[in-house]
Amino acid sequence: MKILIHPDAGAATECAAGLIAARLARDRRTVLGLATGGTMEDLYRRLIRRHHAGECSFAEATSFNLDEYVGLSPTHPCSYWHYMRHHLFDHVDLPAGQAHLPRGNGPDPQAEADRYENAIAAAGDIGLQLLGLGPNGHIGFNEPGSSLSSLTRVKTLARATIEANSRYFDRPEDVPRRAITMGIGTILRAQEVVLLAVGPRKAEVAARMIEGPVTAFCPASVLQFHRNCTVVLDAEAASELALRSYYEDIHPSGS
Ligand code: F6R
Repeated sequence: MKILIHPDAGAATECAAGLIAARLARDRRTVLGLATGGTMEDLYRRLIRRHHAGECSFAEATSFNLDEYVGLSPTHPCSYWHYMRHHLFDHVDLPAGQAHLPRGNGPDPQAEADRYENAIAAAGDIGLQLLGLGPNGHIGFNEPGSSLSSLTRVKTLARATIEANSRYFDRPEDVPRRAITMGIGTILRAQEVVLLAVGPRKAEVAARMIEGPVTAFCPASVLQFHRNCTVVLDAEAASELALRSYYEDIHPSGS
């Protein structure tokens, strides 16, 4: 794992946006794996800014999002389809037919998960996978206890995840209990992984991910096995790392 530590959330997020832009510049046909959540909102703002400045184009890229709630239609305001249109797709040149998310409201969610897994494989797997970090160690919606070689499937959300995501819904009881998520095995097939985590809420789990044992109890810890994984943190999220000064010696100022 390459650990890049930046002084604040803005610098860390700009760094992660820069890694995505650099990948697109190297390979315009990149297959991007995309995430949702609060952390990504600012990252997408920064990518849109770079796009408008002529620094990056998505015209030849393909994207696959990590997950979608079971039961929500693509037009539901709390769906991840809606989130992605609002925060990224409506503002960049990624052709509509090249952006993919699982469909949450189909008749057979597991069949949809299987179809999605096959579509990712048919696209040659993910080139650059962007990840956030759940406070309980989840990546995508691979909650603690997930098989570390799982493929795209239906997962029941952990209570902590439902609570964390209830801020997007009118009432906590409206948060779907299940989601279709790329599996951990699917994520590990990506050529390159960039995980962004900022703020004090991520400090304890970032330390478990980077320095703890590899365990299904903290699904993100499996990234220790990935050959090309960059973790971008701000100082707050890095505050509980035992080897922080070592990482800073290797990559001063997150360079
Ligand atoms: C959603 C996803 C999740 C989030 C994670 C962190 O697509 O991949 O794993 O990245 O829950 O969310 P925030 O950024 O809201 O803390």
